[in-house]
This record gives sequence, C-alpha cells and structure tokens, in this order.
Amino acid sequence: MSKNVVIIGTQWGDEGKGKIVDLITDRAVSVVRFQGGHNAGHTLVIDKQKTVLHLIPSGILHDNVECLIAHGVVLSMSALLKEIAELEAANINVTERLKISPGCPLIFPYHIALDNAREAKCGKDAIGTTGNGIGPTYEDKVARRGLRAGDLLNPILFASKLKEVVEYHNFLLTNYYDTASVDYQAILYEALFQAKKIKHMIIDVTEKIHQHIANDENILFEGAQGTLLDIDQGTYPFVTSSNTTSGSAVTGSGIGVTDINYVLGIVKAYTTRVGSGPFPTELIYNVSTNKGDAIGKVLGTVGHEFGATTGRQRRCGWLDMVTLKRSFDLNAVTGICLTKLDVLDSLISVKICVAYKLNGKEVTIPPYDAKGYTDARPVYIEMPGWKTSTIGTNSFNSLPIEAQNYIHKIEKLANLPVDILSTGPDRTQTLILKHPFE
Ligand code: GDP
Ligand code: IMO
Ligand code: MG
Repeated sequence: MSKNVVIIGTQWGDEGKGKIVDLITDRAVSVVRFQGGHNAGHTLVIDKQKTVLHLIPSGILHDNVECLIAHGVVLSMSALLKEIAELEAANINVTERLKISPGCPLIFPYHIALDNAREAKCGKDAIGTTGNGIGPTYEDKVARRGLRAGDLLNPILFASKLKEVVEYHNFLLTNYYDTASVDYQAILYEALFQAKKIKHMIIDVTEKIHQHIANDENILFEGAQGTLLDIDQGTYPFVTSSNTTSGSAVTGSGIGVTDINYVLGIVKAYTTRVGSGPFPTELIYNVSTNKGDAIGKVLGTVGHEFGATTGRQRRCGWLDMVTLKRSFDLNAVTGICLTKLDVLDSLISVKICVAYKLNGKEVTIPPYDAKGYTDARPVYIEMPGWKTSTIGTNSFNSLPIEAQNYIHKIEKLANLPVDILSTGPDRTQTLILKHPFE
C-alpha cells in the first residue's frame, strides 16, 4: 500500500523540515509544496555540500523524484528562475522534473513594494516579514484580483488584468504609503519574458497527484514555515499569511482529507523564532553586542541559528510543550522527528516549559493571540544535561542516558513517539526509528 506523508513544522519554522524531506524522499515518487512561497528557507547538507531551497521542493536532489508546486504556493517567477539557475549550475537537472500548478498566485514587484511599505509604516510594531511580498500576494488571492500562473498562458488577457491591478496598487503605494509607484510596462515585459522559461512546466498538478494515488505511489507533502506562524492559529498578527498546518496539504494541493496517512511533526529540541512577536521561553541574546543570556548564546552559536532566507539572527529559547501540544492536535501529528538534539550537548541542564503563568493562574492551553503570549510566563521542569556529544548517533541505546530521558520525557508529555532523531545537519546524521512510509 502506498502512503501519503505530510511533513510540517510544529514551532515557528526552521525546525529542519528540508533535511528530513530530502532524507525520506528516497521512498517517494513525488514531493509537493502546498503553501507559503520563497519566504521559506530549507537547508540540505549532503557530504558537507550545503543547498538552500526556497521554492523548489526539497526532493530535487534525488534524480528520479518529481517535484510539484501546487496551487497553495505563491510563486515569484524571479525567485524560481534564480533557484533553477543555481541548481543547474550545480549540475542538477530541474526543469524536466519540476511542475507548477496554473492556480499558483503570482508575486510581482508591487507585492514586494507593498510588503516593505507596510513594514516601514508599522515602525517598531513591524512583523519582521521576509520582505518577499508573501502577505500582499495572498491578500490579492483572497480579494480575487490576483494573477495566477495559468494567466501567463494568455498574454493578451494577462496584460489587461495586470494593468488594472497595477493601477490599484499604485494608488495605494503613492497615496496611502507615500512611496514610489511601480512601472506597468516594465513589469509586463519582465513577466512575459520570464513566462517563456516557465510555461512548459505548468500542468494540472492536482491531476498528477491523483494519478500517483491511483497508481499506488508514495507522495511526500512538504510544509513550509511552522504552526505558530499559521494565519489562523499562530501568534497573530505576528504570523505569515498562509495556513501552515497539515490541513493546508489538502486545500493547497487538491487531495482529500482521508488521503493523508501519516503526519510527521518536526520538533527542534529547543525553540527558535525569526522576526518579531512574542516568544515565552526566549533566552534573549544579541549576537552583535554579545550581550544577554548565556544559554541563549550557546543555542544560537552551536545551532548556527541564522535565517536561511534573510540571514537574520534567530531568537532562541527552551522547548515549549504548551504550544507544541496544541500544535500536535492542530496537525494530527502521527509521529515526531526531533531535530538538533546535538545543539544541547554541552548544557549542564535542560528545561522544558510545561505550563504558562497567566494573570496569576497556571494554564496549559495556549493563548489565542500575541497579547496573551506576551503576558505568559513559562513554568519549567528541569532535567540533567548529558555533557557528551550525540552528533551522528546511530542507535538509540548508545545515547547518554540523560539524552534518552529527555527524549522519553518529550514523548510522554506529547503522548506521541519520536520516530526520527536528527543529531547533525548532514543527511546521514539521522536515526530513523520508524520510517513514515513503512
Ligand atoms: P527548515 O526551514 O525547517 O527546513 O530548517 P532550516 O534549514 O531553515 O534550518 C535548520 C538548520 O539546522 C539548517 O541549517 C540545517 O542544516 C540545520 N540542521 C538540521 N538538522 C540538524 C541537526 O539535527 N543538528 C544540527 N546541528 N543542525 C541541524
Ligand atoms: P521555513 O519554511 C521561519 C516569518 C518571518 C516573519 C513572519 C511573516 O524556512 O521554516 P512573511 O514574509 O511570511 O510574511 O513573514 O513569518 N517566516 C519564517 N520564519 N521560517 C520560515 O520558513 C519563515 N517564513 C516566514 O520571519 O516573522
Ligand atoms: Mg528555514
């Protein structure tokens, strides 16, 4: 029996999704991106060679694997062509194996201009977006005025639709945001030029997926961002503009709810967040001043916690079971993949947040918005550290007992098994206890 596996981030993104997608892709015919856009940064390390993917599914390094960008993804043609060029320069053939849905909303320069103008206007309350135009593109989709990949197939209609949308956004850019307008002709010219290189990849992706299902072939669905960045369930308004939870694999690709057989929740052994917004278990440390929490510094330094898309320092803190338990429920997680355990190797003790103190009461249910999270104070349990390297561990029993206890504690609190353990960035530094495709 074939299986459809969904991989999602259970925290604020950057849990190590890319590494794990690449690893278990060897059992799939196809890898599907279903939401987000090039705000994602998924890192793959194979024999010390690092590849960062933003839009192209993380199965691309496997020669025979097909990579699908489904309609839930917002597509920047510039970002896509840049990524294809980089991969092809490294002798990876992309365009024959990559397919794009005609339903993908397109990102244009005015979306980026709007993203940046909005952030600038927010000043200190800015979200800290990636500046890639993701939010404004999803807004256009929901407002039913957006242009989609399929529109590129009819240049005359495309040109007239684009004219109307550019007029609308230029009004906003100049009159409301008091910033420069964009040039319709230049955008049109560039888009039609880029379309020539992309057109042949546009196919009915949903149909393709259902053919695989009918043929009893395994498919892997690759989530981007993380559950706490979900537009509905995250730390609103400090979130991204798509649903980042496993249900998005259904709406963003066209499979049915019962087509999903297994959801792998990627959990980093601690927590990170890039951009603004509340973070109850944060251990504040500033890399440019070298000031702040000593453990925050260890996590950031040992874990190389810098954004794969924007290069920004990622904020670091302890594991947070309050948000994680909600995340497991929201995604119907089947099994956990615990990543970056090795980053904790040098610590004398490790903490897990098991409740929040909120308005004088101890709660285990997460607040519904950013304000609640800002007021929440973490309540921790503390466990002894293992002070031994776990890098590249190849059996569970060879792990130091304190590390085994930490993992077992997570399993007990989560009421879920850790099916995969990652103890290093390289593809090989992974222990598969139960394969999601088995
Ligand atoms: P994604 O967005 O979820 O794919 O994650 P990113 O690629 O943005 O960030 C994860 C970072 O951690 C990358 O630099 C990975 O190479 C690295 N990484 C992944 N798993 C591990 C691990 O188990 N140990 C260590 N030390 N690094 C890891
Ligand atoms: P991956 O797939 C971490 C964050 C941004 C910002 C917020 C909104 O690599 O895990 P956006 O540009 O999406 O409007 O920004 O979301 N963000 C991410 N943080 N990992 C990501 O992707 C992210 N994609 C967006 O930093 O706080
Ligand atoms: Mg990332």
